[in-house]
Amino acid sequence: MIEIKNLTKVYKLSKKQMQERKTKNNFKKAADSVSLSANKGELYGLLGPNGAGKTTILRCVATLLQPTEGEITVCGFDTVKEPENVRKSIAFLTNEIKLDPQFSPKFMFHFFGKLHGMDDSTINKRREMLFGYFGINDFQDKKINELSTGMKQKASIAVSLVHDPEVIIFDEPTNGLDIVTARSVTDYLKKMKEEGKLVIVSTHIMSEAEKLCDRIGIIISGQKVAEGTLPELLTQTGTNDLEDAFFELYKEHNVEEA
Ligand SMILES: Nc1ncnc2c1ncn2[C@@H]1O[C@H](COP(=O)(O)OP(=O)(O)OP(=O)(O)O)[C@@H](O)[C@H]1O
Ligand SMILES: [Mg+2]
Repeated sequence: MIEIKNLTKVYKLSKKQMQERKTKNNFKKAADSVSLSANKGELYGLLGPNGAGKTTILRCVATLLQPTEGEITVCGFDTVKEPENVRKSIAFLTNEIKLDPQFSPKFMFHFFGKLHGMDDSTINKRREMLFGYFGINDFQDKKINELSTGMKQKASIAVSLVHDPEVIIFDEPTNGLDIVTARSVTDYLKKMKEEGKLVIVSTHIMSEAEKLCDRIGIIISGQKVAEGTLPELLTQTGTNDLEDAFFELYKEHNVEEA
């Protein structure tokens, strides 16, 4: 369902960015020949430290960035040649995309439903289900800029799922959520996986990756340095828990910035 082949993404850096990063290189390789595939009914996690390249990889899959090299298909559609078909098949959630602050969750949900070509009664049924599940009804008519971080995150999640897509790509979905709300989100992701969808998430929270994901790809300095189920990763690294496994891989693969 998602097939990434040798994805490399290089960002060009401006003089200002070079100064800020204290580097002489005018580019940054954020993803370095990453290949992975994930299928329906699976919950796949990208685990990696800050700046590892998780968001870059997910943005390429979601058609928001073009790969410098490599190819990605989602449900058989090429992300560069057929981005419209890819967008119809996915829900994408990232911290960088904000809902418009002057509108309400209810308005945004309806707006995105219409963008996906849905009729009013289908949108309303989806809204009742998703707003009910995530506890959004109480603040559905408030302006986004009056909501707390967690309320905004819940609204963003519900809006991203309006069209009931086959593939769910969530970049740090529990970011800013308290444990009760975070649990409702991870439970929902499991439910969608059980319904046969493909869920791909990024996280740097070990316990979340451990509990939630069927398979984990560990991303360090733009590279996928290990992949497997939790027991497979522990065997590969000769460790007893994911945090130790991660540090083993980090010692071996982390490249300090020039
Ligand atoms: N638009 C950009 N221009 C230049 N460099 C960028 C750009 N976006 C990201 N980078 C750099 O690419 C690298 C990977 O960033 P990315 O956001 O993909 O990491 P991440 O794994 O999502 O990190 P985090 O856990 O902090 O969200 C970092 O060094 C980052 O500074
Ligand atoms: Mg990120």
